[in-house]
Amino acid sequence: MMEKVTTTIDHDLCTGCGLCVQVCPVKTLSIRNGKAEVTGSESLNCGHCQAICPVGAVKVSAIDEAMSQFINFTPGNKWLQYGDYDTAQLVRLMASSRSCRNFIEKPVERSILEDLVKVGCTAPSGTNCQLWTFTILPTRKAVMDLGKGIRSFYIKLNALAKNRLLRMFLKLIGKPELDTYYREYYGSVKEGLEEFDRTGVDRLFHGAPAVIVVGCKSKATLPKEDALLASQNILLAAHSMGLGSCLIGMAVEPMKRDPKIQNAIGVPNDEKVYSVIGLGYPDEVYQLTAGRKKAVMRTFES
Ligand SMILES: Cc1cc2nc3c(=O)[nH]c(=O)nc-3n(C[C@H](O)[C@H](O)[C@H](O)COP(=O)(O)O)c2cc1C
Ligand code: SF4
Repeated sequence: MMEKVTTTIDHDLCTGCGLCVQVCPVKTLSIRNGKAEVTGSESLNCGHCQAICPVGAVKVSAIDEAMSQFINFTPGNKWLQYGDYDTAQLVRLMASSRSCRNFIEKPVERSILEDLVKVGCTAPSGTNCQLWTFTILPTRKAVMDLGKGIRSFYIKLNALAKNRLLRMFLKLIGKPELDTYYREYYGSVKEGLEEFDRTGVDRLFHGAPAVIVVGCKSKATLPKEDALLASQNILLAAHSMGLGSCLIGMAVEPMKRDPKIQNAIGVPNDEKVYSVIGLGYPDEVYQLTAGRKKAVMRTFES
């Protein structure tokens, strides 16, 4: 997303090497009289110029340094060289991150939740717009408040889906969604709702003591992709920090369809929710990574 330029060059430091010009994706900078100059009228504010300058001559003021400072760990801002990481360890982390559905009652520290949001923001975003939004529900009570809205959505949906004539009519006019819902989800949702009423067992969030709701402003270039990439970063970091996490897709659709549910947790109407992440200290220990089904993998060579 093109923005106004916030890049400044310290000409006393600049050696005119041209590296910043080479990595700028939108030609905001060029070399004039042996020094880098801002010559473009727009910028992605991606910070590549600042990150590559060997003498610290570039400043992009749209970048908020506090977003790279964490409370619970200190990665620093020194760039890892290409290839300078243990791939086996990275893949082991990715393969070990499990959808956790058993949590102990211990609350998650707010500083950890805030650090996780900043980890989410290290993800790429379409045209670097970074219009993702993160709503932290730091207590079980707040999670249950969100659950209330979602439960009433499913109570109404199940009442509609139960109506066979309505399902058939909608299918006939080319809207098979309610019938598909009835076949695939109606029964388990009914069971979950009844079990919650009877015993308080929370099949929606699996008892998670905290949630991060990841959304994106609708004017983002690729809002869904941005929110989901940030979410995956959060899942991986959560595992490395000793937390279990679970994506709660069952909470996303109701929030998309009924804006009142997202409004109730402070998410305004110009944002859409793309993921709801349950978080907490896990009450489960695996021996192995879970493995995956065979994937379609094809090669095309012209
Ligand atoms: C988009 C998406 C939505 C999901 N929604 C739910 C959900 O509502 N409830 C749940 O318990 N798990 C949910 N999951 C977790 C999947 O069931 C889980 O990723 C899958 O079974 C593989 O397990 P793993 O994540 O431990 O590898 C969701 C996962 C994804 C990617
Ligand atoms: S990378 Fe730094 S030193 Fe090189 S041209 Fe750009 S501002 Fe000047």
